[in-house]
Amino acid sequence: MLKVDNLTKAFGPNVAVDAVNLTVEKPAMIGIIGRSGAGKSTFLRMLNRLTDHTSGQIVFGDKDITALSGGDKRRWQSDCAMIFQQFNLVPRMDVVSNVLHGTLNRRSTLATMFNLFPDEDLHRAIDILARLGVAEHAAKRAEALSGGQQQRVAIARALMQDPEIILADEPIASLDPMNAQVVMQSLRQIHEEDGRMVIANLHTLDTARRYCDRVVGMRDGRIVFDGTPEQLTTGVARDIYGADASFSEAATSTEIETLDRTAKEHADLELA
Ligand SMILES: Nc1ncnc2c1ncn2[C@@H]1O[C@H](COP(=O)(O)OP(=O)(O)OP(=O)(O)O)[C@@H](O)[C@H]1O
Ligand SMILES: [Mg+2]
Repeated sequence: MLKVDNLTKAFGPNVAVDAVNLTVEKPAMIGIIGRSGAGKSTFLRMLNRLTDHTSGQIVFGDKDITALSGGDKRRWQSDCAMIFQQFNLVPRMDVVSNVLHGTLNRRSTLATMFNLFPDEDLHRAIDILARLGVAEHAAKRAEALSGGQQQRVAIARALMQDPEIILADEPIASLDPMNAQVVMQSLRQIHEEDGRMVIANLHTLDTARRYCDRVVGMRDGRIVFDGTPEQLTTGVARDIYGADASFSEAATSTEIETLDRTAKEHADLELA
């Protein structure tokens, strides 16, 4: 359903994403890992057409995404909702209006300017907020919510677009472990219950392993690993993060230990 073919992005002489190929046959939950500067964000932004590609192609279903322009490109951007590390909500606007702005792409500018949202949309927004466990905050200003709550509102705004794909760029990088878990569980639930594809850039191996069906490792703009969490061994992690890796950037030694332990548990289970 999603086919990325030799996708490349160069910023002047710097090749941020280098001939990346990725095929996703059915909606999956995919985690992209790699050290800082590996090209993860640039890759996601090209999928969403926020950043123009230099060469290559993205195909979704029978649509050539890389060829879209104007209204078609905007429709794609709403089909392929993006979530960011910093939530990108309007801080002084109330939560439900922030969510309703997820319908922006299909509404007239005038209606949007005057915050004229149909009742039907309002009810949907509240339902989505309830699903994410934050409906009680609907009337508060976004800035009054905790980081984890704000990120759930951002997910609600994305769902309001009824997207086929949710792209999340380090969705939990600014959150404490507890909130991070809630946000990752919400994304997982959306994937499982709605059958939406989720592609998330994640900065820890642990998170990718715990929540994703498939992990893609990027290094220097290239995909150096593409497999299941079980296949993500310590050796592979070293390849992704670099041989000199102290794993300080993205993976701690504890994570590597957990990795070994989990891999062993999997092996033990298979043997049992
Ligand atoms: N707008 C830009 N102009 C010039 N160079 C850019 C731009 N955006 C990204 N780059 C470069 O492209 C490369 C990949 O950056 P990118 O942000 O995609 O990495 P990343 O894997 O998301 O890193 P991080 O984990 O720090 O978010 C880096 O060398 C970066 O400096
Ligand atoms: Mg990034």
